[in-house]
Amino acid sequence: MKIKVAIFASGNGTNAEEIIKYFQNHESIKISLILSNNPNAFVLQRAENHRIPHFIFNRNMFYKERLIDEILSLNGINFIVLAGFMWLIPERFVKNYPNKIVNIHPALLPKYGGKGMYGSYVHEAVIKNKEKESGITIHWVNEKYDEGNIIFQAKCKLNPSDTADDVAKKVHRLEYEHYPKVIEKAILQ
Ligand code: GAR
Repeated sequence: MKIKVAIFASGNGTNAEEIIKYFQNHESIKISLILSNNPNAFVLQRAENHRIPHFIFNRNMFYKERLIDEILSLNGINFIVLAGFMWLIPERFVKNYPNKIVNIHPALLPKYGGKGMYGSYVHEAVIKNKEKESGITIHWVNEKYDEGNIIFQAKCKLNPSDTADDVAKKVHRLEYEHYPKVIEKAILQ
């Protein structure tokens, strides 16, 4: 039996796409479910293109009701990957999936993390502070934003002329290169 993975994503889903492709013919890991809090997220189209079941939820379903818990359990999900997911993970999820939830953050944590620091906001802050480098952090998820133990980091150099968009491109490149492999290692460890 394969290890079943659910991906939570809120937006475009380019990371989800890379992860889906990487595990397409994997002998022991299967991307079984895509979940999103955003009905307009392009990641849902990607899920459809790859014929992966997907589910949209709202705040109540996620934080108050136990619907998502049931969906994960009914689908036999063993591992959770956050790929551009913008909501805080409820404590009960962290308890139900101890060391089985990973996130990617588009900066070198502990810098540029925490509430409100996501997507382009991160890159804009990096540019504003004239940082000479940025990068990615892959970490275990706990009940606080971006504070779980770090699994992996990779850096990219920035030029003084780089815009937030340029930083996003460099960071995305690192994400695509490393996230699927780090997920694989974290699952099979
Ligand atoms: C990625 O860069 C990811 O690191 C970031 O959102 C982007 C999603 O892109 N995640 C966060 O900011 C989480 N705090 P994608 O939808 O194209 O994968």
